[in-house]
Amino acid sequence: MKETTEPLIRFEKVTKTFGSKRILNELSFDVSKGETLVIMGPSGTGKSVTLRHAIGLMQPDSGRVVVAGHDMSTISRKDLAELRTKVGYLFQEGALINWMSVGDNVALPLRENTDFDEDEIRARVEQKLELVHLKDVWERMPSDISGGMRKRVGLARALITDPEIIFYDEPNAGLDPEISMSVNHLIRELADSLGITSIVITHLLSCVRVVADRVIMLEAGDIVVDTTPAEFIAANHPRVKQFLGEFAD
Ligand SMILES: Nc1ncnc2c1ncn2[C@@H]1O[C@H](COP(=O)(O)OP(=O)(O)OP(=O)(O)O)[C@@H](O)[C@H]1O
Ligand SMILES: [Mg+2]
Repeated sequence: MKETTEPLIRFEKVTKTFGSKRILNELSFDVSKGETLVIMGPSGTGKSVTLRHAIGLMQPDSGRVVVAGHDMSTISRKDLAELRTKVGYLFQEGALINWMSVGDNVALPLRENTDFDEDEIRARVEQKLELVHLKDVWERMPSDISGGMRKRVGLARALITDPEIIFYDEPNAGLDPEISMSVNHLIRELADSLGITSIVITHLLSCVRVVADRVIMLEAGDIVVDTTPAEFIAANHPRVKQFLGEFAD
């Protein structure tokens, strides 16, 4: 565990209901500066919905989400635009823009939020693509590459502004074991060398083992377990034991 105290991300009694279904039920947790929090839990339990609240893509019905000192419900457009350059988001489904090349997809946040010239943008995009083990892909279209490659393009895009906070929604999904492990090490390396704060959603213990400072398990919209990675993997908690028995890699 990292010895940090300042909460950079705070969920305060966040409740979210879709129709008659309550997805988040007074969910509260903090993530300290420099900490990597892993969220695990059954499918459909609100993990992705939680992350969407953290970047202001969804608003709570009640409760508050505070990121880097900003209440995400009342943040001004100007502050939100600035915050977005400090926050990277790897979407579960990739969320690449289909009619743009791979390189243009990764370059998009730089073109929208910085005044770098084309040479600078090109160099930065190539560097991030290399970091995720992709070469000579700039001109390819998202529909012409594999799902695992699309995931890595999404990761390169999440990293392109050198964010201080990164949200990873299932960074390993669709990757072969070797690339999956290298992505885990990349997440850890970014935390260790740059002090990046992150939330990682995963179903894989191999990811927990490498990246986590802390693990929470979500179920029915609230936290049922909040523990260290070692304790989680040891499955001392009965619900964790049952969950890992069902889903562990
Ligand atoms: N925009 C939305 N409108 C209505 N329902 C939604 C919306 N987004 C999510 N949901 C519902 O909220 C629930 C939680 O979804 P979420 O995507 O957070 O699950 P998850 O824990 O990420 O699951 P998985 O492990 O399968 O990715 C699901 O029942 C989903 O159908
Ligand atoms: Mg999800």
